[in-house]
Amino acid sequence: MKKTILLLLAALSAAGAFAAAPPALVPQPRLAVCDGDEGLQLADGVRISVPANNVVLFRVAEQFAQWMEREAGLRLAVAESDGPLRLTLDESLGAEAYRLTVGPDGLLVEGGTEAGVFYGLQSLRQLVSQYGTALPALRIEDEPTFAYRGTMLDCCRHFFTVDEVKTFIDILALHKINRFHWHLTDDQGWRIEILRYPELTRVGAHRAETVLGNNSAAYDGKPYGGYYTQRQVRDVVAYAAERFITVVPEIEMPGHASAALASYPWLGCAGEGYKVQTLWGVFPEVFCAGRDTTFEFMEEVLDEVIALFPSEYIHVGGDECPKESWKHCPECQRRIREEGLRDENELQSYFIHRIERWLNAHGRRLIGWDEILEGGISQSATIMSWRGAAGGIAAAKAGNHAIMTPNTHCYFDYYQTKDPRQEPWGIGGYVSVGKVYALDPYDQLTEAEHPFILGVQANLWTEYVAGMAHLQHMLLPRLAALAEVGWACDRRDMESFRVRLGRRAPGSMSGAATAVRPTSSTARTNNSDNSCKKTQIRPSV
Ligand code: ACM
Ligand code: ZN
Repeated sequence: MKKTILLLLAALSAAGAFAAAPPALVPQPRLAVCDGDEGLQLADGVRISVPANNVVLFRVAEQFAQWMEREAGLRLAVAESDGPLRLTLDESLGAEAYRLTVGPDGLLVEGGTEAGVFYGLQSLRQLVSQYGTALPALRIEDEPTFAYRGTMLDCCRHFFTVDEVKTFIDILALHKINRFHWHLTDDQGWRIEILRYPELTRVGAHRAETVLGNNSAAYDGKPYGGYYTQRQVRDVVAYAAERFITVVPEIEMPGHASAALASYPWLGCAGEGYKVQTLWGVFPEVFCAGRDTTFEFMEEVLDEVIALFPSEYIHVGGDECPKESWKHCPECQRRIREEGLRDENELQSYFIHRIERWLNAHGRRLIGWDEILEGGISQSATIMSWRGAAGGIAAAKAGNHAIMTPNTHCYFDYYQTKDPRQEPWGIGGYVSVGKVYALDPYDQLTEAEHPFILGVQANLWTEYVAGMAHLQHMLLPRLAALAEVGWACDRRDMESFRVRLGRRAPGSMSGAATAVRPTSSTARTNNSDNSCKKTQIRPSV
């Protein structure tokens, strides 16, 4: 074997390197310790070995080799035989947990499942970004606090191509996020091909023009549109799955329905006069809850959706549904009478329940925004708390599962700095990186209620986010803060986070050629109110 392709066991001053610059990992692992004096020098040709017949780990290793070539100019080889970089499973670990050990004899990444190994390799990418190919001897162990760690992207207000969505997914993967909530239908565009209902994309995927800024009097005069074919959706779902990310689709109902109603006017109470909206906001055009044809439509749409998305959870929206048209619709009023409902709030509840029954009968579970609490929900529905934490708290206290995504901490369409003039045009609000970091998912809950909180999520609505540079500005570094809430909720330390964030080089690792670095102003934002202290396990760095 040629010398150049040998693993060089360098007598590095590894302990010194570790002490001078401890691993700047985000999220902060449970344990990161210096593990000896002698580190490891990676070099071209070093073999990554995986257990025989584990095709998933083989693919994970190949993925890692590609990252190393792109990010460190290092050409690693993948083999099933013994190699100095070993990926393996240790079933005594939790499903998403990993252990990463670096020493002079090689490097070992052990995961409870393949997902754990994948997360160990995300840490390794960060280590190589920090130390280069001369790694100090160390041991890192980690496991996430929350099983659900999500990020939502709204592809309706502005459309992002498949390649752009994949770049977004790459950024999530690097941050060990495991759910991509894909907002696919809304007033301003229906973005998913449904074979049974072609007008949804022929008509509903296009708007005549777009409002300029937030001034409803001025428009750009340019037709705007786009949608994902089912083939593209499958491609995105597979791409995400290779990064251990489940895609949770959102098909909005009964509100935010203008694009669907413009495509098939019989879906609305008035039966005519709809258009794909050209400005932002909440609109009175909603699905008719009285006609059975609406439910037949929904079930046929969902039939195609569940065939495309293996996600256990399907998001049905449920937010911001004005009830005016239901008040004047004879069919909706007949439904209220015949079902013995008290009012239009209960009619919304009827709508969601009926869809949930269908989803459950097809082996899936329903998630909805916190408005679905109004008028009552079933015990099996999961609430996404967005109007602050109140909905999530109420849900958990009622024994429903909840995902915490309060606008006060998790709305990445809000400005990040106190002076919005420093930032691209946005929707308003103020969610600094420190604010995200300070999210307490267990606020006001007893310990017995904690298990009802499945996790946390950031939401990136895109009314004012029309391209990738802007998207990344909104996402980073706030996503790093969310990732730390998701993985290290019990041991957050804003000062340490700020230092680690400053040390890492996101541009080299985001998977995006145009990654935007965090601005110093956002990275400097400080908020040390980390009130989520379930257990006190202190990292040793
Ligand atoms: C929402 O922000 N309307 C869920
Ligand atoms: Zn109606």
